Amino acid sequence: MQFENTREFARQLDKDDKLSKYREEFIFPKVNGKEVIYFVGNSLGLQPKSAQKYVDEVMKDWAELAVEGHFYADKSWWDYHERFSGKLAKVVGAKPTEVTVMNTLTVNLHLLMVSFYRPSGKRFKIICEEKAFPSDQYMISSQVRFHGYDPEDAIVEIKKREGENNFRTEDVLEKIREVGEECALVLIGGVNYYTGQVFDMETITKAGHEVGAFVGWDLAHAAGNIELKLSEWNVDFAAWCSYKYMNSGPGNASGCFINEKYHNKKDIPRFEGWWGHNKERRFLMEPEFQPEPTADAWQISNAPILAMAPYLASLEMFDEVGMPALIEKRNKIVAYLEFVLHEIDKEVDSTFEIITPADQEHRGTQLSVFLHGEGKELFRYLMDKGVITDWREPNVIRLAPAPFYCSYEDMYEFGQILKKGILSKQKVN
Ligand SMILES: Cc1ncc(COP(=O)(O)O)c(C=O)c1O
Repeated sequence: MQFENTREFARQLDKDDKLSKYREEFIFPKVNGKEVIYFVGNSLGLQPKSAQKYVDEVMKDWAELAVEGHFYADKSWWDYHERFSGKLAKVVGAKPTEVTVMNTLTVNLHLLMVSFYRPSGKRFKIICEEKAFPSDQYMISSQVRFHGYDPEDAIVEIKKREGENNFRTEDVLEKIREVGEECALVLIGGVNYYTGQVFDMETITKAGHEVGAFVGWDLAHAAGNIELKLSEWNVDFAAWCSYKYMNSGPGNASGCFINEKYHNKKDIPRFEGWWGHNKERRFLMEPEFQPEPTADAWQISNAPILAMAPYLASLEMFDEVGMPALIEKRNKIVAYLEFVLHEIDKEVDSTFEIITPADQEHRGTQLSVFLHGEGKELFRYLMDKGVITDWREPNVIRLAPAPFYCSYEDMYEFGQILKKGILSKQKVN
């Protein structure tokens, strides 16, 4: 499609957009009395209007039923989490039994490493990407030390090539083959938080298995953003947070995928608690742990219902719309944003560079833009004008137009604000 950088053209795209009505289902903060242009759905998604109703429902059940709410609330609490599995399974391409909701992301990655990082003999190394999200670096390093190894010896980082912005799949595969039988685990962020690059999870998972390693993925920036086929790709485990593209609310519960081939495997250890116990017998309070025959066996504590209520509200919208429609709009709106950026680049003295892969196969919703010169000043200008982006050192703003609630006109408007910001700065200098 031939794009045009005009308001009329952007408005026409919005008119033709089947998802445009969903914008009304979200609450936008305001700056200077105007709804913001929200580019940080990759950090914290906007609040769906239906979230309040779901929370109120739990508050009402708690007030009226108190402890009886566990069994007699309309959405009973003892099995509240089960309402997520089927719908989440569709989002991540898994079987409902392979998906569970519990805890928060880093906690879950630690718990999954109890099962899938069991170094012994020669096989003790973990392969991850360089400059992984800091929490992943701390998590991996502390796991390695917990097992008595030195992170210097046990952590192998995949590097980008000199002068390149993104990782090459061939380099990941080569590193996996090089570490070979010393590799215990490959654990990478499926979508890189800094650049928005999407890794070839299927190929990398296969390569990890070929050297006898487990392969897990941190899907914080992938869930609700890109197409995932965790079962088909034969991924061993994965975890993601829900507060980014999945719009569940700050710090909300994480989702986990555990491949069904491990559900009943006795030699896969696990930290256990009563919510992972056979649900038919949970309240018999028996001393011996009998695991649920699903990913729920990894659950430890009873679910935080009040926190999960807004997540359920959001997940139901995902189920209604479906990932294919979201991805179709995502591709178009990101392509339009990219076009607008290039158009503005032509109109001003070039001051920025998109470091996210240009091909749709290797990116999702996020475009990371490297600002040359006084980048932070421009970032502040945008924030003051109601364009909410985020800043990552040394000089990057990340723009993620979530397809659920961002409009094409937002992209056009952003371009105009950006141009003014750059021109006003160039005049001053
Ligand atoms: C890639 C990635 N991994 C891990 C985390 C940490 O998540 P949490 O604080 O929910 O454990 C984040 C948070 O933004 C993230 O982006």
